Amino acid sequence: MSTVDGVGLGLRFAFLDELVERSGDPLPALRWLECHPENYMRRGGRFPAGLTRLRERWPFATHGLSMSLGGVDPLDGEYLRTLRGFLDEVQSPWHSDHLCVSIAHGRASHDLLSMSFNEELVRHLVARIRQAQDRLSTPLAVENVSYYALPPDSDLDEGDFVSAVCAEADCLLMLDVNNVYVNAFNHGQDARAILTKMPLERVVQMHVAGHFYEEPDFILDTHDTAIVDPVYELLEWTLARTGRVPVLLERDSEIPAWDDLYAELVRLDALWRAAPERGRAPRSRGARGTGALTRNTGRLPAGQADDAGGMLRHGNTP
Ligand SMILES: [Fe+2]
Repeated sequence: MSTVDGVGLGLRFAFLDELVERSGDPLPALRWLECHPENYMRRGGRFPAGLTRLRERWPFATHGLSMSLGGVDPLDGEYLRTLRGFLDEVQSPWHSDHLCVSIAHGRASHDLLSMSFNEELVRHLVARIRQAQDRLSTPLAVENVSYYALPPDSDLDEGDFVSAVCAEADCLLMLDVNNVYVNAFNHGQDARAILTKMPLERVVQMHVAGHFYEEPDFILDTHDTAIVDPVYELLEWTLARTGRVPVLLERDSEIPAWDDLYAELVRLDALWRAAPERGRAPRSRGARGTGALTRNTGRLPAGQADDAGGMLRHGNTP
């Protein structure tokens, strides 16, 4: 039995073959992987074959890019059916996607477009999260995104917005600490104040990444540089409050040499190990929630259960 726990790495094609070659190495700071299902569903060839090889060594969590929970196009039933099969095959303990719009009028934006923060859009997201959750057998976690402008119809702050969505949909949170840092930096806010309002008891996984300083006072969330010290510090601050939640490094481009990438994992692993034990299980689908619209929708998939440390397990890896 293997568990998504400790520090993981977002799998990218750029280093998939190298990771397969290294899958016999000890690599103690790399304990799990995250993949984008869109890159592997209904595809043959060496990348899905590589994924199969990597699953023999590491447990996987999955991270989607195209559910478009904030959009107005109907959820794509064919996508969700295929996704459900993929998640069941990979035995991902949870599946995350973003609180954003990524498809409009049937066309993918190839960007994660942020939304206004207001009650109407809380209700909109809650309805669509429930629809998506009903079609998946894997607990759904939503991710806070980076944004560069806030429309004038936003009357909630980011923390209150995300908290309301998670409470009313009774879903998990995939907390991107780098996104909180980027938003706080660009909009002159206090990142710790934003995080304090987030539903930290629902966090099932965290993301960290590097970013690009387009101007001295403006960050682009590019995931193409090493993590900066303030994000490490913010992660440490957050882990002190959540306990040992699985942490994932996202590196999308300008991929460094393996030793440099692994050095980041080692630094993250030290932070994770220094954090306190998780006090209680993260909120999961089926847990009784606190929001007014909360419901008890089901149970964790077969093979997964909360343990004393609050982690969800799966049994696909020796
Ligand atoms: Fe992220």
